[in-house]
Amino acid sequence: MQSVTVKTHANISLIKYWGKRDEVLFLPTKSSLCIALSELTTTTSITQAAGDQDEISINWQVTTEISHKKIIDFLTLFRTLYGIKQFFAITTHNNFPTAAGLASSSSGFAALALALNAFSKLNLSEKELSILARQGSGSASRSVCGGFITWHRGENELGTDSYAEQTFDAQHWPEFRVLVIVVRNDAKKVSSREGMRITTSTSPSYQTWLTNSAQRMPLIVEAIRNKNLHEVGELAEADWAEMQQTMLDSQPQLDYWTPTSRDVMQAIKTLRSAGIPCYFTTEAGPNVKLICLENNVQTIIKTLREIDGVLDIIACKVAQAPIVTEK
Ligand code: PMV
Repeated sequence: MQSVTVKTHANISLIKYWGKRDEVLFLPTKSSLCIALSELTTTTSITQAAGDQDEISINWQVTTEISHKKIIDFLTLFRTLYGIKQFFAITTHNNFPTAAGLASSSSGFAALALALNAFSKLNLSEKELSILARQGSGSASRSVCGGFITWHRGENELGTDSYAEQTFDAQHWPEFRVLVIVVRNDAKKVSSREGMRITTSTSPSYQTWLTNSAQRMPLIVEAIRNKNLHEVGELAEADWAEMQQTMLDSQPQLDYWTPTSRDVMQAIKTLRSAGIPCYFTTEAGPNVKLICLENNVQTIIKTLREIDGVLDIIACKVAQAPIVTEK
């Protein structure tokens, strides 16, 4: 039987995405920029279903009913968009905790979009794939590419110009590293989808963040072009801090951190004061992501491992493009 297997990488943003201007089409309120992570992967296989319904097997470490429903909704959308009648048997596996603020939906829906495209022989372009993946999860629009990636906000309300593309490839900055500091493995209490809804409708600082963040986009692209870690780190932390502020001044307040997240962030600042260039960001979850250069990885890992509550530290390079295998 025909089968397709796709391996994609989760991404973390340095200029963040938090909020939609259209919830049906997943149109963001602003552009964002991210890095694909070499060690956080989703592997998804697809074949034809035996009967007249989709079969889904999610051997993720944490499986939620919500993840299952989101996949079914995405398959239904795919059939509607491309006039396909077939049902699918999908097996999908993450090599890292799911729905815990480690961007599992980014690699998850990108893998699904790429697998459906190859299985149905649609030959969609990267831009079309990004637009499709976006409608499963906004951040997934970015995981159809490798390297440093920009997701354009887009101007029209049909969503045809809101897609991601590579800004620099994975080889551009070989020494660049991301450390993923895992402090919790379980699913977060408030999903990003719900959290964004709360923030966009209640946060008094939201508009300010949108304005400031848009100004940071061209600056961070230049800083990455020049391989200037200090600039990249300062811009990423500034963007993260303002996004956190919008979460904290939302009603109800969104606080995704644990005491260990705070200890890790403090330790990163201390390392920096001691002359080790390293900067952090978080998603909607307690796990912390640190950016640094290869020569400081061992020192940083040694320091952070000593913090009570740190469960794991995953060192990533900038990932290459996804891999699609057909049989
Ligand atoms: O696409 P979602 O619903 O997983 O949104 C993720 C949003 C953040 O991870 C918090 C930020 C980002 O830019 O990815």
